Amino acid sequence: MIIKPRVRGSLALNCHPMGCKKIVEDQIKIAKDSKQYKGPKKVLILGASSGYGLATRISLAFGGSKSDTIGVSFEKEGTEKKVGSAGWYNNIWFKEAAEKEGLIAKNFIGDAFSHEMRKEVLEYIKDEFGGKIDLLVYSVASGVRQDPDTGIVHRSCIKPINEEFGGYTLNIQKEEIEYMSVESATEEEIANTVKVMGGEDWSHWVKTLVDEDVCNEGFKSVAYSYIGGDITRAVYRDGTIGQAKEHLEQTAVELNTLVSEKLGGEVYTSVNRAITTKASAFIPCFSIYASVLFKVMAEQGKEEPCMEHTHRLLADMIYGDSPNFDAQGRMRPDSWELTDEIQEKSVNIYNDITEENFKELCDFKLYKKYFMNLNGFEADGVDYDSDVDLEWLSTLRP
Ligand code: NAD
Ligand code: NA
Repeated sequence: MIIKPRVRGSLALNCHPMGCKKIVEDQIKIAKDSKQYKGPKKVLILGASSGYGLATRISLAFGGSKSDTIGVSFEKEGTEKKVGSAGWYNNIWFKEAAEKEGLIAKNFIGDAFSHEMRKEVLEYIKDEFGGKIDLLVYSVASGVRQDPDTGIVHRSCIKPINEEFGGYTLNIQKEEIEYMSVESATEEEIANTVKVMGGEDWSHWVKTLVDEDVCNEGFKSVAYSYIGGDITRAVYRDGTIGQAKEHLEQTAVELNTLVSEKLGGEVYTSVNRAITTKASAFIPCFSIYASVLFKVMAEQGKEEPCMEHTHRLLADMIYGDSPNFDAQGRMRPDSWELTDEIQEKSVNIYNDITEENFKELCDFKLYKKYFMNLNGFEADGVDYDSDVDLEWLSTLRP
């Protein structure tokens, strides 16, 4: 089968399995060529198949730490007839590369929010993974979560609170920008978003792992958060998702008390920079902001893609000697994004953007390339005219 990209609006409808392989290999090379650090030996990553979670896993395995990893993700299986999701193949290629270097790379595909998944992972840690872990990274991004105790399905939304929000969003398919206005969220929508993207599930995981005594002394857990600047403030940090992130950050403070007392370890959030991912492509105006940011950061020689950013977080901060915590105890690798100079320049450009000039004013090309790369397209050195052997691919297991 010859696979060409299919995109609807800002939703990718397919992926290129061999392109995903090349992208994973390229990221591994970045981790290997970067500063090497000594880190945790045994790691569990929730949301490990794409974006920040995958970059974290690659850095930990190939950036000096040589970590054995367990990855949990929710992905669609590839069959003999149908291409699976990008994350499905990312898991396969990561595992293949890690095993070649003698590392354990175990994948669980399913719902991280469920008690069943926690039970399965726990049994695996106890029976086959050496009994204890050193680090849990929480990088799940989802629009829906079933509460494992009540069975109620909660849906998150990305809306402002007590105000309306309007702004442009990229339509990747049409290569156009579209004006979107979003109404203020209801109390129920806020509560549901906190349920899905807040800290409740992370807390279930950390408490279960501590209770079941599968964490080593000095155990750490990190979850990823976002703040951003004025352009996205109304719809992001002051909106429904911001409430969820605040809940996540408060959860870190609670969990830190537990983990520091019991294990002499630490729990915190890391506020990461804006990048193009499957999850972030849906946030109103975020894609335009990110495209402006890429351009401004590049002009300052500070443009840092997901893999490099994540590696710096681990090598210099979490397992390095320049941690950079803020007054609320959050790790701040996003400080590069949030300097006054970068933000002022971004706002000035953003305010001038029109449907006609956006391709000149922001780095749409780079945004699109990152977006296509997420699904294995536009990778350097991949022949997209050659046949993809789905039958063979379907025999590979994550
Ligand atoms: P992503 O879409 O690339 O990755 C999400 C991951 O979660 C995937 O591995 C997916 O399989 C997994 N997942 C989703 N639902 C699941 C479920 N029910 N069970 C198990 N796994 C599930 O997203 P991302 O942008 O890398 O986001 C990861 C975290 O980083 C989020 O907390 C996000 O808010 C945060 N973050 C993102 C940005 C950004 O710009 N993208 C910036 C700062 C922080
Ligand atoms: Na992720």
